Amino acid sequence: MIDDLKEKFLNELESVISPADLFQLRVNYLGKKGHLTSALKALSSATPDERPLLGKKINDVKQFVEAHIASKEAAFKNEELKKQLLAGAIDITLPGKYAAFGKEHPINQVLFEITDIFVKMGFSVEEGPEVETDYYNFEALNFPKDHPARDMQDTFFVSDDIVLRTHTSPVQVRGMEKRKPPVRFIAPGKVYRCDADITHTPMFHQVEGLMVDKDITFSNLKGILEAFLHQMFGPDTRVRFRPSFFPFTEPSAEVDIGCILCGGSGCRVCKNSGWLEILGAGMVNPAVFKNVGYDTEIYTGFAFGMGIERIAMLKYAIDDIRLFYENDIRFLRQF
Ligand code: PHE
Repeated sequence: MIDDLKEKFLNELESVISPADLFQLRVNYLGKKGHLTSALKALSSATPDERPLLGKKINDVKQFVEAHIASKEAAFKNEELKKQLLAGAIDITLPGKYAAFGKEHPINQVLFEITDIFVKMGFSVEEGPEVETDYYNFEALNFPKDHPARDMQDTFFVSDDIVLRTHTSPVQVRGMEKRKPPVRFIAPGKVYRCDADITHTPMFHQVEGLMVDKDITFSNLKGILEAFLHQMFGPDTRVRFRPSFFPFTEPSAEVDIGCILCGGSGCRVCKNSGWLEILGAGMVNPAVFKNVGYDTEIYTGFAFGMGIERIAMLKYAIDDIRLFYENDIRFLRQF
């Protein structure tokens, strides 16, 4: 009988196809009521002569069964591990997925270059809202209501009293309201004017600059702007100041550099003048200081403003401003 058990076990083992089957097989043979446990119990009813031999046989079969179950168990574990590894496997022969790399927009490249130069000269960076009140965009900057200078800047109105800022100069006022002199910051940002052709878009970028302290003079303005322009366009760049008018500066100037495309001999871009207009600037009008509560007997200052698109166009010889905003990757990749 015990000899048949081995055969029976091997047959049943063959039909085991899952760990659950194997568990059941173990219970059937090695469990409390399993075949081998019963066989061992039955040993007591064997005759004393038979007992040692029978006992040895049962133990042999028991060891046989245990060994087979253990090796089957190991086989199942191995299979499971293989499955897991295969599920997580990477097919290294598949072609990779390419992520298209972005690139800093040329306007931002120029903006960061400008910012960097002024930050190294000790200027901080200030920001202000693009939707602005009439007060900050005009009134506080000494543009009285109905002043013709308001017409210079084709304004987008949100309502009677609210505009899309036409320049970054309102940040001068907001920046001064927030602090006492000395003041030294630049204010980059988007500005809006109702204007569109190959050198104008309704939205464009400016960088404002402001420096206020005791004893700030026009020669400080010239020194800072020359240092900036020489770093931006090269140390041999010629710089020229021409008288101009802005309500918020007095005196005011327009600043030109020698044409960086023809070197001054005259070309289409500089309209044969040899000069390129780059900046508006001037000494802060005392009327503006009064609006922010600065003592005009103690403090003087200068301000300047420039258009980023114009500088980027000159720097990269781009002849149509609209190229900046079409997001054509073939254009953007060139910078
Ligand atoms: N805000 C002026 C403009 O947009 C530029 C400017 C700024 C002029 C600061 C003088 C001082 O045209």
